[in-house]
This record gives sequence, C-alpha cells and structure tokens, in this order.
Amino acid sequence: MKTQQPEEQLNRGEFLRSLGMSSAALMAFYCMGTLSACSSKSTDPAPSTGSGTGTGTGTGTSGALDLTASANSALKTEGGYVYNGSMIVARVKGGGYVALARACTHQGTNVQYRLTQNDFYCPNHGSEFSTVGAVEVGPATTGLAVYKTALSTDGNTLTITT
Ligand code: FES
Repeated sequence: MKTQQPEEQLNRGEFLRSLGMSSAALMAFYCMGTLSACSSKSTDPAPSTGSGTGTGTGTGTSGALDLTASANSALKTEGGYVYNGSMIVARVKGGGYVALARACTHQGTNVQYRLTQNDFYCPNHGSEFSTVGAVEVGPATTGLAVYKTALSTDGNTLTITT
C-alpha cells in the first residue's frame, strides 16, 4: 500500500507534467499567433518614419535631405535654396551647402539667400546675415543659428545636424 501511493503520486505528477508541457506548447502556439499579429501592427508605423524626413517642406529641422526629390530641385544650382522645417538650406556661391535658421532674429521673417551678395537677406526690414549666420546689417542684432551639413559621396543626400 505504501509503495503504491508514491507510484500513484509519481504517475499523477508525470501526468500533470505532461499536461503542463502540452499547455506550454499550446501557449507557444498562442504566443506565436499573437507575435505575428503584433509584428504586423508594429511594422505599420515603420514606413512613415522611414520616409518622414528630408522632403524639403517637412517639419523636421535636421535629418537627411533628398537632393533628388523635386521639392529640393532648387539645391541643384548655385543660389538655390529651400525651406526645411525651421531652417533655410541654400546652395551657396562655390557650390557648398549652408543650413541656417530661417527666421530672422529681428521679427521672424523668413530670410532668403542671395547669390550675388553671397548672404542671407531679410526682406522685411533689410537685415543681412553672412553664410555662417553672423549679422552683417541690422536691425537684427543676433545671428542666425547654423546647422552642420554633410553631402553623401553620391551627392544625392544632404545630412543636416544641429
Ligand atoms: S524681421 Fe528681419 S529685419 Fe525685421
């Protein structure tokens, strides 16, 4: 009698373990199903983040600017410029790229790049800024913020960092 009880307990234990294993296997199946459902949801936002920056008219102030995009075609020629979020990006005299804060520090009007003067001009009250953002002519008294630019080796992407 005493030897049968442990055997029965063992048998029950083994049975419960086998149930546990099978339930674990079932859980694994459920998890797999849930994961696949979740992964399909999580991949939905990914494309928007992948193409959300660098359109030239976007809201981002830094990131990669696609120079092949039609919105940025002005940057193919010297003297061209685009507004990108809170900045102005210009292809300045000599062919380099400059990115500055677009809002004049006087009263916030968008500045414009001028190729002949090689400067940034505010049409509102006439402030002028150098290509490094320094005030050359007032009434503005504070320079424009300058961003770093780096052109990709293929020349198709301009990376702008704050
Ligand atoms: S807003 Fe630019 S000079 Fe006044």
